[in-house]
Amino acid sequence: MYPDRVVSGMRPTGTMHLGHYHGALKNWIRMQSEQQCLFFVADWHALTTHYDDPSIIEKSTWDMVIDWLAAGIDPSQATIFVQSRVPEHAELHLLLSMATPLGWLERVPTYKDQIENLANRDLATYGFLGYPLLQAADVLIYRASQVPVGEDQVPHIEMMREIARRFNHLYGKEPGFEEKALEAVKKLGSKRAKLYAELRTEYQQDGNEAALEQARAMLDDAASLSMIDRERLFGYLEGSRKLILVEPQAKLTEASRLPGLDGRKMSKSYGNAISLREDKETVTKKIRTMPTDPARVRRTDPGEPTRCPVYQLHEVYSPEATKEWVVKGCRSAGIGCIECKQPVIDAVLAEQEPMQERAQQYLDDPSLVRAIVADGCETARKLAQETMRDVREAMGLQYT
Ligand code: TRP
Ligand code: SF4
Repeated sequence: MYPDRVVSGMRPTGTMHLGHYHGALKNWIRMQSEQQCLFFVADWHALTTHYDDPSIIEKSTWDMVIDWLAAGIDPSQATIFVQSRVPEHAELHLLLSMATPLGWLERVPTYKDQIENLANRDLATYGFLGYPLLQAADVLIYRASQVPVGEDQVPHIEMMREIARRFNHLYGKEPGFEEKALEAVKKLGSKRAKLYAELRTEYQQDGNEAALEQARAMLDDAASLSMIDRERLFGYLEGSRKLILVEPQAKLTEASRLPGLDGRKMSKSYGNAISLREDKETVTKKIRTMPTDPARVRRTDPGEPTRCPVYQLHEVYSPEATKEWVVKGCRSAGIGCIECKQPVIDAVLAEQEPMQERAQQYLDDPSLVRAIVADGCETARKLAQETMRDVREAMGLQYT
């Protein structure tokens, strides 16, 4: 069917910190060498909440791309682009909006939450309500199969799947589809054709997902099929429609949540973050002045690592032996807090060193970043245009 593609985006709302690195970027970096990946700056999404103060968006966009490159996103492997430079996202968003029930958008949990949490901003806007639909367009336009996101985004991915399903149902009619699908079945050869028919029935009558999976795997292996026939047979498995848009899966970030300097989730708004490219002196100072177990008032007071935010950082950064040294030393008052913090400082600085180095060339010559993004936009746009051709045709907007 369609190639295994990964799409994800981030909103440019300020500089990135190590929490973003451990929570999302590391995942992206791992995926870029395994699958085709498209990573984009969701600048339109930033406007849904910052429409009254767009001045920071442009700078944040470039800073964020530099942060990605610094962290190890490799433009020779992954496509890096800016959402608003691929206007097809907006076209698909508009077209999808025609058939999206309002209730689907109003029910998205982040909608009501955010309206309450960001009470100081007027979010009773059309754009904000449509946020998850724009996000759906971002992913569906590339027919992506996987979307690496955090837990909070799962309801958005669920909605995307419903949107894709509804779209295929409404617009996936192809004249003579059934006949063409049956012709394609024959091309499988009699043994496989029989199995295909059985699995299709099992799925359609009993909802047996395993049968669906098995049938799909068989189609993937069937070398005799043309691309278009394979696509038809994928669609025919689930009904009598062509699959124009692909239902994506959320690919949850492996939980390596990095706590902030005070033990709460690292976040710029809590003032407990270390930014990705923070200079050495500031990093050292921030960690040196981190709060520790409040029970350790004096150096001779024993402490309890499980009550200490420094230990949470050891959990992320330190090997077993160091962690044992901390636990023993802390409980027996054998080590001091400054001593305990040093391995964390060293590990954070070591993690950041290659990032600083990679960032430097882009800071010295910003035209490199512009070129990478221009390239990425071009690549993304070609893929987006392919999907839009099919979408327009399906919706009766081809005009040839
Ligand atoms: N909504 C995402 C967030 O706030 C950002 C985003 C926009 C996104 N479009 C996307 C993520 C498409 C994944 C895929 O984090
Ligand atoms: Fe925290 Fe380490 Fe001090 Fe114990 S010794 S309180 S773990 S900083």
